[in-house]
Amino acid sequence: MKEGEDRREGTVTRRGFCQAAGLSACALATGGAAAVSADFLRPRVLFEPATTFTVGPPDAIGPGAVLDFPAYRAFVIRLPDGFRALSSVCTHLGCITRRDPDVNLIACPCHGSRFTLDGDVQSGPAPGPLRWLQMALSEKGEIIVDTAAEVPQGTVFKF
Ligand code: FES
Repeated sequence: MKEGEDRREGTVTRRGFCQAAGLSACALATGGAAAVSADFLRPRVLFEPATTFTVGPPDAIGPGAVLDFPAYRAFVIRLPDGFRALSSVCTHLGCITRRDPDVNLIACPCHGSRFTLDGDVQSGPAPGPLRWLQMALSEKGEIIVDTAAEVPQGTVFKF
C-alpha cells in the first residue's frame, strides 16, 4: 500500500469494482452468445401429423354409416355400392365441415356450403366437390385412409 492511501480491510476499490463489473459483463455476453449459437445449431424439425389413419375392419362399419374423423379431417362413408373417404376440408375457404344428420348432408359452418355424401356441392359458395381420398386394406384386414392421396371422384372401394 502506498503512503497516503486509506484502505480498510474488506472494502472494494473503484478499480476492483470496475474489473468485477467488466468481467461479469463479459461472462454475460459470452453466455448469451453461446445460448444463441446453441439455439441456432439445434435442428428445426416440423412435426406434421400423420396422413394415414386406421378406420377398422370393414365389417364393423354398417351400411349407411358416416364416420367423422376430425383429427384427420376426413369422413369415411359406407353406402350400398362400397366405401368412400372424403376430405372434410371445405373447398371454399378451408373450414372443416361436419355431417348434418338431419338432412344427411355434409355442411360447412363458415359460409353455409352443403355437400352430398358423394362430396358434390349442393348449395353455397364452395367452388367444387370435396376431395376423395385413397383407401386400402391393411395386412390386419383394417381399412386405412390416406388423406394425402387423392383419388378421382367416384372411386368406390369394395372390401
Ligand atoms: S369455407 Fe366452407 S363455405 Fe366458406
